[in-house]
Amino acid sequence: MRLAIVGGALQGMEAVYLANKAGIETVVLDRKADAPALSICDDPFVLDPTKDPESAMGIFEGCDAVIPACEELDLLHCLDGMLRDSDIPLLFDMHSYETSCSKNRSNEIMESVGVPLPGKWPECGFPVIVKPSSQSGSIGVSVAFDQDEVDRGLDVVRSLNDEPVIQEFVHGKSVSIEVIGNGTTARSFVTTEVVLDTNYDCKMVRCNPDIMSPEDDELFGRIGRDVAESMGLSALMDVEAILTPKGLRVLEIDARIPSQTPAAIQAATGVNLLEELMFTALGKETGRARGDGSSVYRHVVMKDGVLRACGEKEFGHVRNPRLVKGFFGSDDAITDYEPGKSEWRATLITSGRTEAEVDARCDSEIRRILDECSIEEFVDGSPEVV
Ligand SMILES: Nc1ncnc2c1ncn2[C@@H]1O[C@H](COP(=O)(O)OP(=O)(O)O)[C@@H](O)[C@H]1O
Ligand SMILES: [Mg+2]
Repeated sequence: MRLAIVGGALQGMEAVYLANKAGIETVVLDRKADAPALSICDDPFVLDPTKDPESAMGIFEGCDAVIPACEELDLLHCLDGMLRDSDIPLLFDMHSYETSCSKNRSNEIMESVGVPLPGKWPECGFPVIVKPSSQSGSIGVSVAFDQDEVDRGLDVVRSLNDEPVIQEFVHGKSVSIEVIGNGTTARSFVTTEVVLDTNYDCKMVRCNPDIMSPEDDELFGRIGRDVAESMGLSALMDVEAILTPKGLRVLEIDARIPSQTPAAIQAATGVNLLEELMFTALGKETGRARGDGSSVYRHVVMKDGVLRACGEKEFGHVRNPRLVKGFFGSDDAITDYEPGKSEWRATLITSGRTEAEVDARCDSEIRRILDECSIEEFVDGSPEVV
């Protein structure tokens, strides 16, 4: 099978990696010649489908399906229009995506089906989170401990020309689950833990059977299915939540292929969300059983003589990466490392039978990198505790 992936940045790299694992050939289209997914796919094209739809359609016609790996609305509408009346499935649901782009709109839907959300302002009291309804990547998100800070947060949201969401600041583990719908019914997949760096960017995803209790896990799956079915989702979405002492509180949904979590799920359980999505669209079943292993997916950057854990924004500066098996003892890596290079980045994917086994493997990978590259120090920062 052959899949066209439109967009060659973080989501595009994720899609190429997953397709590769499932034995699906990949074509990547990006308007930028230095988009990193171009160097890891089978067939790269530097092309903008909004500017040259005919050439894009020519490429799509040689593929079994097309998946957008970008969040540019113009491009998404263009692909949706191009493929709506064709026989080539677009692995994307424009309507659900537009709903999920607005936190206010998706919160209304979630509330209507009884999904537990953070408390509403002002009833919830301080501290609160002030965030823009329609941005992503933690842009414009702030914590407020009093009315002055709320006003400052609102100024930030206004400067982004957006509507605000003001809600209870909730504490706990950040967790995520993916859901695939066929327009009527939906299936939830595997819970992962999302670990943030000092800038609140995701630096690591952990997947193992002990992220939360079986009861919470079952509830998270049900929440995902309820939301997907109430929206009539006919593609993939993820649900992000915080596991608080009072239970799960859902922060947001995003109806598009995420980066990071699917690769961690693939490594731990053998479940390949891209393959599941593609097979669902083609009316087939993968027949894959879900394993109960563990994995860690993380990014590192080597710069100024120091190796650092970093978020995916920093990793996104990787140039001309390759897929490397067994990179310094990991299972797989996406990296632009070359021996002797003074600046490079890597995503390291490591699996094992248990969480402890994976952590031990991760430690030894870092030690090997420090040793073999003569690097003095590994710096791994966490967000400041509020
Ligand atoms: N109610 C909340 N309580 C605590 N932290 C929050 C809350 N809402 C958002 N955050 C933090 O801000 C980050 C970004 O918010 P999110 O709602 O996921 O928006 P987006 O990812 O679209 O920018 C979250 O990952 C989380 O770390
Ligand atoms: Mg988010």
